Amino acid sequence: MTKKKTILSGIQPSGKLHIGNYFGAIRQHIAMQDKGDTFYFIANYHSLTSLNDGKTLYQNTIDVTLDYLALGLDPQKATFFAQSDVPQVPELAWILGTLTPVSLMEKGVSYKDKIAAGLKPNIGLFTYPILQAADILIYHSDVVPVGEDQKQNIEICRDLAGKFNRAYDGEYLIIPEDHIVKSVAVVPGTDGRKMSKSYNNTIQIFEEGKPLKKVLMSIETDSKGLEEAKDPDSDNVFALIKLFADESKQAEIAEKYRAGGYGYGHAKLELLELVEEYFAEAREKRKELEGDLDFVKDVLTEGGKKARARAESVMEPIREVTGIVRNF
Ligand code: ADP
Ligand code: TRP
Repeated sequence: MTKKKTILSGIQPSGKLHIGNYFGAIRQHIAMQDKGDTFYFIANYHSLTSLNDGKTLYQNTIDVTLDYLALGLDPQKATFFAQSDVPQVPELAWILGTLTPVSLMEKGVSYKDKIAAGLKPNIGLFTYPILQAADILIYHSDVVPVGEDQKQNIEICRDLAGKFNRAYDGEYLIIPEDHIVKSVAVVPGTDGRKMSKSYNNTIQIFEEGKPLKKVLMSIETDSKGLEEAKDPDSDNVFALIKLFADESKQAEIAEKYRAGGYGYGHAKLELLELVEEYFAEAREKRKELEGDLDFVKDVLTEGGKKARARAESVMEPIREVTGIVRNF
Protein backbone atom coordinates (compact mmCIF):
# COMPACT_ATOMS: atom_id res chain seq x y z
CA MET A 1 0.00 0.00 0.00
CA THR A 2 1.34 3.43 -0.84
CA LYS A 3 1.47 5.99 1.92
CA LYS A 4 -1.45 8.43 2.03
CA LYS A 5 -0.45 11.86 0.82
CA THR A 6 -0.55 14.69 3.31
CA ILE A 7 -2.74 17.49 2.00
CA LEU A 8 -2.58 20.90 3.68
CA SER A 9 -4.08 24.32 3.18
CA GLY A 10 -4.81 27.44 5.21
CA ILE A 11 -7.15 30.39 5.10
CA GLN A 12 -6.76 33.75 6.82
CA PRO A 13 -9.49 34.82 9.25
CA SER A 14 -9.23 38.43 8.21
CA GLY A 15 -12.95 39.02 7.55
CA LYS A 16 -16.21 37.41 6.55
CA LEU A 17 -15.77 34.72 3.91
CA HIS A 18 -17.23 35.49 0.51
CA ILE A 19 -18.25 33.52 -2.55
CA GLY A 20 -14.86 34.17 -4.19
CA ASN A 21 -13.28 32.30 -1.26
CA TYR A 22 -15.91 29.59 -1.61
CA PHE A 23 -15.48 28.86 -5.31
CA GLY A 24 -11.75 29.61 -5.29
CA ALA A 25 -10.74 27.65 -2.21
CA ILE A 26 -13.25 26.31 0.32
CA ARG A 27 -15.20 24.15 -2.11
CA GLN A 28 -12.00 22.41 -3.25
CA HIS A 29 -10.79 22.01 0.34
CA ILE A 30 -14.00 20.21 1.22
CA ALA A 31 -13.92 18.09 -1.93
CA MET A 32 -10.39 16.95 -1.05
CA GLN A 33 -11.01 16.30 2.65
CA ASP A 34 -10.92 12.53 2.32
CA LYS A 35 -8.36 12.32 -0.46
CA GLY A 36 -5.40 11.95 1.89
CA ASP A 37 -4.23 12.74 5.36
CA THR A 38 -5.72 16.21 5.34
CA PHE A 39 -4.93 19.30 7.44
CA TYR A 40 -6.78 22.62 7.09
CA PHE A 41 -6.00 25.50 9.37
CA ILE A 42 -7.00 29.06 10.16
CA ALA A 43 -3.98 31.27 9.59
CA ASN A 44 -4.50 33.62 12.52
CA TYR A 45 -0.82 34.58 12.92
CA HIS A 46 -0.90 35.63 9.28
CA SER A 47 -3.99 37.76 9.86
CA LEU A 48 -2.11 39.72 12.53
CA THR A 49 -0.14 41.27 9.68
CA SER A 50 -3.26 43.21 8.71
CA LEU A 51 -5.64 43.04 11.69
CA ASN A 52 -4.80 44.33 15.17
CA ASP A 53 -8.03 43.83 17.04
CA GLY A 54 -8.05 40.81 19.32
CA LYS A 55 -11.80 40.49 19.70
CA THR A 56 -12.38 40.61 15.96
CA LEU A 57 -9.58 38.16 15.19
CA TYR A 58 -10.95 35.71 17.77
CA GLN A 59 -14.51 36.08 16.48
CA ASN A 60 -13.36 35.64 12.87
CA THR A 61 -11.58 32.44 13.89
CA ILE A 62 -14.80 31.02 15.32
CA ASP A 63 -16.75 32.28 12.28
CA VAL A 64 -14.43 30.64 9.77
CA THR A 65 -14.75 27.37 11.70
CA LEU A 66 -18.54 27.67 11.67
CA ASP A 67 -18.46 28.44 7.95
CA TYR A 68 -16.31 25.41 7.09
CA LEU A 69 -18.36 23.04 9.23
CA ALA A 70 -21.62 24.37 7.78
CA LEU A 71 -20.28 24.02 4.25
CA GLY A 72 -19.45 20.36 4.75
CA LEU A 73 -16.09 20.04 6.46
CA ASP A 74 -16.12 16.80 8.42
CA PRO A 75 -13.67 16.87 11.36
CA GLN A 76 -13.56 13.06 11.26
CA LYS A 77 -12.06 13.27 7.80
CA ALA A 78 -9.86 16.37 7.94
CA THR A 79 -7.89 17.81 10.84
CA PHE A 80 -9.19 21.37 11.26
CA PHE A 81 -7.34 23.69 13.62
CA ALA A 82 -5.93 27.13 14.37
CA GLN A 83 -2.35 27.91 13.33
CA SER A 84 -1.66 29.36 16.79
CA ASP A 85 -2.33 25.96 18.37
CA VAL A 86 0.94 24.74 16.85
CA PRO A 87 3.88 26.64 18.41
CA GLN A 88 6.24 24.54 16.29
CA VAL A 89 5.15 26.70 13.32
CA PRO A 90 6.70 29.99 14.49
CA GLU A 91 9.63 27.96 15.87
CA LEU A 92 10.40 26.50 12.44
CA ALA A 93 9.67 29.85 10.77
CA TRP A 94 12.46 31.45 12.80
CA ILE A 95 14.93 28.78 11.75
CA LEU A 96 13.91 29.06 8.09
CA GLY A 97 14.27 32.83 8.34
CA THR A 98 17.93 32.41 9.22
CA LEU A 99 18.42 30.68 5.85
CA THR A 100 16.31 33.13 3.81
CA PRO A 101 18.12 35.75 1.73
CA VAL A 102 16.55 39.19 2.12
CA SER A 103 16.57 39.37 -1.69
CA LEU A 104 14.16 36.42 -1.88
CA MET A 105 11.60 38.28 0.22
CA GLU A 106 12.18 41.44 -1.81
CA LYS A 107 10.90 39.59 -4.86
CA GLY A 108 7.58 38.80 -3.15
CA VAL A 109 4.72 40.11 -5.27
CA SER A 110 2.12 39.58 -2.60
CA TYR A 111 3.98 41.98 -0.25
CA LYS A 112 4.13 44.62 -2.96
CA ASP A 113 0.44 44.16 -3.81
CA LYS A 114 -0.58 44.50 -0.20
CA ILE A 115 1.46 47.67 0.30
CA ALA A 116 -0.01 49.07 -2.90
CA ALA A 117 -3.47 48.27 -1.51
CA GLY A 118 -2.69 50.39 1.57
CA LEU A 119 -1.49 47.87 4.17
CA LYS A 120 1.28 49.02 6.51
CA PRO A 121 4.70 47.68 5.53
CA ASN A 122 5.47 45.72 8.72
CA ILE A 123 8.12 42.99 9.01
CA GLY A 124 5.39 40.37 9.51
CA LEU A 125 3.98 41.20 6.11
CA PHE A 126 7.47 41.17 4.58
CA THR A 127 8.34 37.74 5.97
CA TYR A 128 4.82 36.33 5.51
CA PRO A 129 6.06 33.69 3.01
CA ILE A 130 8.51 32.28 5.59
CA LEU A 131 5.71 31.66 8.08
CA GLN A 132 3.65 30.16 5.27
CA ALA A 133 6.56 27.85 4.38
CA ALA A 134 6.74 26.70 8.01
CA ASP A 135 2.96 26.05 7.94
CA ILE A 136 3.46 23.68 5.07
CA LEU A 137 6.77 22.04 5.96
CA ILE A 138 6.03 21.33 9.63
CA TYR A 139 3.54 18.55 8.70
CA HIS A 140 5.66 17.07 5.88
CA SER A 141 2.90 18.13 3.49
CA ASP A 142 2.95 16.62 0.01
CA VAL A 143 0.17 18.59 -1.68
CA VAL A 144 -0.97 22.16 -1.07
CA PRO A 145 -4.24 23.11 -2.80
CA VAL A 146 -4.28 26.88 -3.27
CA GLY A 147 -5.43 29.51 -5.74
CA GLU A 148 -3.23 30.90 -8.51
CA ASP A 149 -2.36 33.92 -6.32
CA GLN A 150 -0.42 31.66 -3.91
CA LYS A 151 1.89 30.16 -6.54
CA GLN A 152 4.90 32.27 -5.61
CA ASN A 153 4.53 31.55 -1.90
CA ILE A 154 4.58 27.82 -2.61
CA GLU A 155 7.69 28.27 -4.78
CA ILE A 156 9.38 30.10 -1.91
CA CYS A 157 8.40 27.25 0.42
CA ARG A 158 9.97 24.67 -1.90
CA ASP A 159 13.06 26.80 -2.16
CA LEU A 160 13.41 27.13 1.63
CA ALA A 161 12.90 23.39 2.20
CA GLY A 162 15.74 22.74 -0.25
CA LYS A 163 17.99 25.30 1.44
CA PHE A 164 17.39 23.71 4.83
CA ASN A 165 18.04 20.18 3.61
CA ARG A 166 21.26 21.28 1.90
CA ALA A 167 22.46 23.33 4.86
CA TYR A 168 22.01 20.40 7.26
CA ASP A 169 22.70 17.67 4.74
CA GLY A 170 19.63 15.46 5.08
CA GLU A 171 15.98 15.03 4.10
CA TYR A 172 14.55 16.82 7.10
CA LEU A 173 11.87 18.63 5.15
CA ILE A 174 9.70 17.35 2.32
CA ILE A 175 9.48 19.49 -0.78
CA PRO A 176 5.75 19.81 -1.52
CA GLU A 177 3.97 19.95 -4.87
CA ASP A 178 1.60 22.80 -5.36
CA HIS A 179 -1.84 22.01 -6.57
CA ILE A 180 -3.14 25.13 -8.17
CA VAL A 181 -6.89 25.07 -8.13
CA LYS A 182 -7.81 25.98 -11.68
CA SER A 183 -11.39 24.82 -11.78
CA VAL A 184 -12.78 28.29 -11.39
CA ALA A 185 -11.96 31.60 -12.95
CA VAL A 186 -11.56 34.61 -10.71
CA VAL A 187 -14.96 35.36 -9.19
CA PRO A 188 -15.93 38.97 -9.91
CA GLY A 189 -17.14 41.26 -7.15
CA THR A 190 -20.12 43.61 -7.28
CA ASP A 191 -17.99 46.21 -9.11
CA GLY A 192 -16.62 43.76 -11.68
CA ARG A 193 -13.11 43.66 -10.18
CA LYS A 194 -11.82 40.48 -8.49
CA MET A 195 -14.01 39.85 -5.45
CA SER A 196 -11.87 40.65 -2.42
CA LYS A 197 -12.26 41.82 1.15
CA SER A 198 -9.80 44.59 0.37
CA TYR A 199 -12.03 46.01 -2.38
CA ASN A 200 -15.30 46.11 -0.43
CA ASN A 201 -17.07 44.38 -3.28
CA THR A 202 -17.86 41.02 -1.73
CA ILE A 203 -20.96 38.88 -1.54
CA GLN A 204 -20.69 37.02 1.74
CA ILE A 205 -21.50 33.32 1.78
CA PHE A 206 -23.77 33.54 4.78
CA GLU A 207 -25.53 36.81 3.99
CA GLU A 208 -29.24 36.24 3.42
CA GLY A 209 -32.63 37.94 3.10
CA LYS A 210 -32.75 41.71 2.67
CA PRO A 211 -29.03 42.44 3.12
CA LEU A 212 -28.19 39.83 0.47
CA LYS A 213 -30.78 41.29 -1.89
CA LYS A 214 -29.32 44.76 -1.35
CA VAL A 215 -25.81 43.57 -2.24
CA LEU A 216 -26.95 41.71 -5.34
CA MET A 217 -28.98 44.71 -6.50
CA SER A 218 -25.81 46.81 -6.26
CA ILE A 219 -23.91 44.70 -8.84
CA GLU A 220 -22.67 47.03 -11.56
CA THR A 221 -23.90 46.45 -15.13
CA ASP A 222 -23.93 48.47 -18.32
CA SER A 223 -26.80 50.88 -18.89
CA LYS A 224 -28.81 48.95 -21.48
CA GLY A 225 -32.58 49.42 -21.09
CA LEU A 226 -35.08 46.71 -20.29
CA GLU A 227 -36.12 46.08 -23.89
CA GLU A 228 -32.63 45.89 -25.37
CA ALA A 229 -30.93 42.60 -26.20
CA LYS A 230 -27.99 41.92 -23.89
CA ASP A 231 -24.77 39.94 -24.08
CA PRO A 232 -24.61 37.49 -21.14
CA ASP A 233 -20.89 36.88 -21.62
CA SER A 234 -19.91 40.46 -20.88
CA ASP A 235 -22.12 40.87 -17.81
CA ASN A 236 -21.15 40.52 -14.15
CA VAL A 237 -24.53 39.27 -13.02
CA PHE A 238 -24.40 36.46 -15.54
CA ALA A 239 -20.80 35.59 -14.56
CA LEU A 240 -22.13 35.01 -11.03
CA ILE A 241 -25.24 33.16 -12.23
CA LYS A 242 -22.92 30.69 -13.98
CA LEU A 243 -21.42 29.68 -10.65
CA PHE A 244 -24.76 28.74 -9.18
CA ALA A 245 -26.96 27.51 -12.05
CA ASP A 246 -26.77 24.14 -13.79
CA GLU A 247 -26.16 24.11 -17.54
CA SER A 248 -29.78 24.11 -18.66
CA LYS A 249 -30.67 26.97 -16.32
CA GLN A 250 -27.63 28.92 -17.60
CA ALA A 251 -28.75 28.37 -21.21
CA GLU A 252 -32.29 29.44 -20.37
CA ILE A 253 -31.13 32.68 -18.75
CA ALA A 254 -28.60 33.41 -21.53
CA GLU A 255 -31.43 33.10 -24.03
CA LYS A 256 -33.50 35.66 -22.10
CA TYR A 257 -30.54 38.08 -22.12
CA ARG A 258 -30.22 37.78 -25.90
CA ALA A 259 -33.95 38.05 -26.59
CA GLY A 260 -34.40 41.45 -24.91
CA GLY A 261 -37.33 42.42 -22.67
CA TYR A 262 -35.34 41.02 -19.74
CA GLY A 263 -33.64 43.58 -17.53
CA TYR A 264 -30.60 43.34 -15.26
CA GLY A 265 -33.02 43.70 -12.34
CA HIS A 266 -34.69 40.46 -13.43
CA ALA A 267 -31.33 38.72 -13.70
CA LYS A 268 -30.38 39.91 -10.21
CA LEU A 269 -33.58 38.50 -8.73
CA GLU A 270 -32.92 35.23 -10.47
CA LEU A 271 -29.38 35.24 -9.04
CA LEU A 272 -30.82 35.91 -5.56
CA GLU A 273 -33.02 32.86 -5.83
CA LEU A 274 -30.13 30.71 -7.03
CA VAL A 275 -27.80 31.83 -4.23
CA GLU A 276 -30.46 31.29 -1.56
CA GLU A 277 -31.12 27.81 -2.87
CA TYR A 278 -27.44 26.89 -3.30
CA PHE A 279 -26.54 27.71 0.29
CA ALA A 280 -29.89 26.84 1.93
CA GLU A 281 -28.67 23.67 3.58
CA ALA A 282 -25.41 25.25 4.75
CA ARG A 283 -27.35 28.15 6.28
CA GLU A 284 -29.55 25.82 8.28
CA LYS A 285 -26.51 23.89 9.41
CA ARG A 286 -24.70 27.06 10.45
CA LYS A 287 -27.61 28.18 12.59
CA GLU A 288 -27.66 24.81 14.33
CA LEU A 289 -23.91 25.00 14.96
CA GLU A 290 -24.18 28.53 16.35
CA GLY A 291 -26.30 26.98 19.08
CA ASP A 292 -23.55 24.47 19.88
CA LEU A 293 -20.39 26.53 20.16
CA ASP A 294 -18.88 24.01 22.56
CA PHE A 295 -18.82 21.49 19.72
CA VAL A 296 -17.21 24.05 17.41
CA LYS A 297 -14.49 24.85 19.96
CA ASP A 298 -13.92 21.14 20.55
CA VAL A 299 -13.27 20.68 16.84
CA LEU A 300 -10.49 23.27 17.06
CA THR A 301 -9.06 21.85 20.28
CA GLU A 302 -8.97 18.28 18.99
CA GLY A 303 -7.62 19.40 15.62
CA GLY A 304 -4.92 21.39 17.40
CA LYS A 305 -3.82 18.32 19.36
CA LYS A 306 -3.47 16.19 16.26
CA ALA A 307 -1.66 18.89 14.33
CA ARG A 308 0.75 19.51 17.22
CA ALA A 309 1.61 15.84 17.52
CA ARG A 310 2.49 15.67 13.83
CA ALA A 311 4.42 18.94 13.99
CA GLU A 312 6.42 17.79 17.00
CA SER A 313 7.54 14.64 15.19
CA VAL A 314 8.92 16.76 12.34
CA MET A 315 10.43 19.41 14.63
CA GLU A 316 12.35 17.05 16.91
CA PRO A 317 15.06 16.01 14.43
CA ILE A 318 15.29 19.62 13.25
CA ARG A 319 16.06 20.83 16.77
CA GLU A 320 18.65 18.15 17.06
CA VAL A 321 20.44 18.82 13.79
CA THR A 322 20.40 22.60 14.26
CA GLY A 323 21.76 22.27 17.81
CA ILE A 324 18.73 23.97 19.33
CA VAL A 325 18.58 21.71 22.31
CA ARG A 326 15.76 21.88 24.85
CA ASN A 327 16.73 19.46 27.61
CA PHE A 328 20.39 19.53 28.59
P1 ADP B 1 -9.39 38.24 -0.09
O1 ADP B 1 -8.89 38.72 -1.43
O2 ADP B 1 -10.85 38.46 0.05
O3 ADP B 1 -8.60 38.81 1.08
P2 ADP B 1 -7.87 35.85 0.36
O4 ADP B 1 -6.67 36.45 -0.29
O5 ADP B 1 -7.87 35.68 1.86
O6 ADP B 1 -9.18 36.67 -0.08
O7 ADP B 1 -8.14 34.45 -0.33
C1 ADP B 1 -8.41 33.24 0.32
C2 ADP B 1 -8.56 32.17 -0.74
O8 ADP B 1 -9.69 32.45 -1.59
C3 ADP B 1 -7.36 32.08 -1.68
O9 ADP B 1 -7.09 30.71 -1.91
C4 ADP B 1 -7.80 32.74 -2.97
O10 ADP B 1 -7.22 32.14 -4.09
C5 ADP B 1 -9.31 32.53 -2.97
N1 ADP B 1 -10.00 33.69 -3.57
C6 ADP B 1 -10.11 34.92 -3.01
N2 ADP B 1 -10.81 35.77 -3.82
C7 ADP B 1 -11.14 35.05 -4.92
C8 ADP B 1 -11.88 35.36 -6.12
N3 ADP B 1 -12.42 36.56 -6.32
N4 ADP B 1 -12.02 34.39 -7.05
C9 ADP B 1 -11.49 33.14 -6.84
N5 ADP B 1 -10.80 32.80 -5.74
C10 ADP B 1 -10.62 33.72 -4.78
N1 TRP C 1 -1.50 32.94 2.27
C1 TRP C 1 -2.73 32.16 2.20
C2 TRP C 1 -3.86 33.06 1.67
O1 TRP C 1 -3.80 34.26 1.83
C3 TRP C 1 -3.10 31.58 3.54
C4 TRP C 1 -2.08 30.61 4.03
C5 TRP C 1 -1.25 30.78 5.09
C6 TRP C 1 -1.78 29.34 3.46
N2 TRP C 1 -0.46 29.70 5.25
C7 TRP C 1 -0.73 28.79 4.27
C8 TRP C 1 -2.28 28.62 2.37
C9 TRP C 1 -0.20 27.53 3.99
C10 TRP C 1 -1.72 27.35 2.10
C11 TRP C 1 -0.69 26.82 2.90
O2 TRP C 1 -4.83 32.54 1.13
